[in-house]
Amino acid sequence: MSDRRQRVFSGIQPTGEAHLGNYLGAIRNWVELVDDYDCLYCIVDLHAIITEYEPSEMQERVFDLAVSLLASGLDPERCTLFVQSDVPEHTELAWIFNTVTPLGELGRMTQFKDKSRGRESVSAGLLDYPVLQAADILLYRAGLVPVGEDQFQHLELSRDIARRWNVRFGELFPEPQPLVGHAPRILGVDGASKMSKSAGNTIPLLAEPDEIGKRLATAVTDPDRVRRNDPGNPHVCNIFALHGHFSPAGVREEVEARCQTATIGCVDCKRKLASHMAEDLAPIRERARALREDPDRVYGILDAGAARCRRLARDTLEQVYEHMGLARRHVPAPAG
Ligand code: TRP
Repeated sequence: MSDRRQRVFSGIQPTGEAHLGNYLGAIRNWVELVDDYDCLYCIVDLHAIITEYEPSEMQERVFDLAVSLLASGLDPERCTLFVQSDVPEHTELAWIFNTVTPLGELGRMTQFKDKSRGRESVSAGLLDYPVLQAADILLYRAGLVPVGEDQFQHLELSRDIARRWNVRFGELFPEPQPLVGHAPRILGVDGASKMSKSAGNTIPLLAEPDEIGKRLATAVTDPDRVRRNDPGNPHVCNIFALHGHFSPAGVREEVEARCQTATIGCVDCKRKLASHMAEDLAPIRERARALREDPDRVYGILDAGAARCRRLARDTLEQVYEHMGLARRHVPAPAG
């Protein structure tokens, strides 16, 4: 398949159930890109093992994430979805990049500093994480990477690695740029921090309607609205922000006005949100259910994705080895 469109690469960690932060902040954006770019989307299991995990659960996590991505509308006919560890070239290129990456820059990464702070022991993998990420992207010579702001620094390092390698061994890698969509920052049900598995403040993408209701029931609203008849400020309320993603304009205007005049309480406002959210996500739940019953189809898609990526990856690595003087061109004929 020859494809002249610009190449896009992005990765997502199989850290557990996909949640609304993943969906609104990343996945939905990925779906929109498949018509305009040659998109490679990767389930980055080799990144996920850096955090403490249970080996017997990993296969399920990868499968569930694949199901969520496909159910969200990633069409395997129009993009390539694969699992990182199915393409060993990622780690191969990461090793090569390690040799041109200054240690000091890795130690300066905000994510590394945040995750290593106060820890007695920190693995080399945590430090090396962004080098594997650079390898993910550059292995396919992708020019564009849809990521949120929290990944800009890692992407800058990818550019730096590409530049250093190119200067040392010859022009091969493009410097990948972030592709900033209209991806909003989604806060968790605590209304305080970004929705994430580790913060324990998520609403799962595939939650059934009653679970959506339960998660929203405990969600934090405008903290100044203590009593039912205190007027609220919808613009500081995460529930109102979520209405913006799931409820029709009429409902949004209604809850906005009635919150400000204290003629609707938070409980009712959340109920309205829960019902629109459940309805909006119903087709995704439905598709996920069908996919879960057909694992052969899911694995078939991942296998086909890996097969394509291995071809692309091998081609890059052959050139890498060639430029680096590692390619075996003249194998001496065995004596005798
Ligand atoms: N580090 C990214 C995250 O945590 C995941 C990731 C791994 C990634 N490799 C990538 C994102 C390559 C973009 C491109 O969100």
